[in-house]
Amino acid sequence: MIKSRIFITTPIYYVNDKPHLGHTFTTLIADVLSRYFRQEKKEVFFLTGTDEHGLKIFQSAKINNKDPKKFCDENSSLFKETWKNLGIEYDKFIRTTDKDHIETVQYVLDILKEKGDLYEKDYKGLYCIDCENFVLEKDLINGLCPFHLKPPINISERNYFFKLEKYFGLVQKEIEKEKLKITPNSALKETKGLLKQKLTDFSVSRIKEKVQWGVELPFDKNQVTYVWVDALINYISAIGFYKNKNNFKKWWEEGYVLHILGKDILKFHAIYWPAMLIALNIKVPNEELIHGFFTVNGLKMSKTLKNTIDPNELVRIYGSEATRYLLLSQFPVSSDGDIKEAQFKEKYNTDLANRLGNLISRVLSLENKAEFKQTKFNSSKIKPNFKKILQETRNNYIHFMEDYKLFEALQEIFKLVDYCNVYISQNKIWELVGKKDKNSKLLLEQHLTDLSITLEEIRNLISPFLPKTSEKLGNLLKTKNPEPLFKRL
Ligand code: MSP
Repeated sequence: MIKSRIFITTPIYYVNDKPHLGHTFTTLIADVLSRYFRQEKKEVFFLTGTDEHGLKIFQSAKINNKDPKKFCDENSSLFKETWKNLGIEYDKFIRTTDKDHIETVQYVLDILKEKGDLYEKDYKGLYCIDCENFVLEKDLINGLCPFHLKPPINISERNYFFKLEKYFGLVQKEIEKEKLKITPNSALKETKGLLKQKLTDFSVSRIKEKVQWGVELPFDKNQVTYVWVDALINYISAIGFYKNKNNFKKWWEEGYVLHILGKDILKFHAIYWPAMLIALNIKVPNEELIHGFFTVNGLKMSKTLKNTIDPNELVRIYGSEATRYLLLSQFPVSSDGDIKEAQFKEKYNTDLANRLGNLISRVLSLENKAEFKQTKFNSSKIKPNFKKILQETRNNYIHFMEDYKLFEALQEIFKLVDYCNVYISQNKIWELVGKKDKNSKLLLEQHLTDLSITLEEIRNLISPFLPKTSEKLGNLLKTKNPEPLFKRL
């Protein structure tokens, strides 16, 4: 395993609905981390995509009077469009309806069957279509799924089951030895709790009569693959587990595999998936980063409540850069939180227009007025106070980024921004402009050198979060043209 080569994934999102802020949050975290690691000269492969099979999607297509594939095509492209609008740059977008993905799912199921890890069993149980998951009677609230408040359906059929119980101890060991690291600690604790519950073997198929929209089992034409098994396999099908072994070796076997996901799907990723991988003789993912869940304006996001915010709408109002900032500066990655739309405008004006935007235009207009033409700076000329704060900021920033603490890393950058703003005011630097005496001239040049080098550093640090702003700032620093990057709203 080479930590200098990182394979970053997001969950693949269900296409029964349009992309919302929840999906956006995860994908943005992955994008920022990819950009950060690339900046640190690491090799990165960033994978995202859409989960397109199963009853939930089939039914949504029907309600919308659409052929399921056409429905998936349309909704899947909405995800691509949204990521583009947000400046998210992935290396591959996988769809579970892709031919090579389907072939890989069948290849995997054949291996598991041949190994004796799949067996047929009559099953009776409850299933929540919205969760695409089995539910237990004891977990229902007034007979309804506790997450979707809808009645589950009764399933009574003969399905194939995966021998999870056989691999349970091995999964536990991999987690204990941190071969699979679960971040943060709260998620690790939750995983340990799940392991204590001793989960049972799980069904990997459904009867085709009941669910037509899925990947047919290679050894039984009357059954289709359970959508979660189909979906998890995306992480290996996308990098060529079936037909491109070299690429698979490069990213999975030799790379650092990092799955990013919300805590709603922890069980599938921290237990089912590693068990399947162990059965396939493949190493478990190196790490799973579990982020918190948020409400929007105090309420759980839900289609019925119609409070799912369209990320594209935010981009229209604030622009892609500000939307990225506003989402990641609300609360730490691993905490639960509330996205308060009403605060967006204020936060935009305070942080982006005033704190960051002002600093940029103050420094550039000082340079302009002072006719300070220098564009390349000798960092050895920087004063000790600036040198110290730059060093501290960079150390803290790297420490936070390596721990995926994006919120905290952003705060570090803004502390540096504030330091410079206060410095300009306290030293009344503008009063030095135009003074003819040698001392004033030298002093002004020193101030502008310190501030320019610091702005250059801010530009580097902020680049994974605000890539376009960073690029524009780079040009402004060259042309010394004080043009506002974030106009006040
Ligand atoms: N298709 C499955 C995942 C299969 S991965 C092999 C699925 N899709 S989903 O469309 O429901 O997306 C779930 C993911 O969206 C969560 O894990 C999380 O990453 C993100 N979020 C959805 N709602 C969210 C919040 N309210 N808050 C934060 N993230 C949220 O599950």
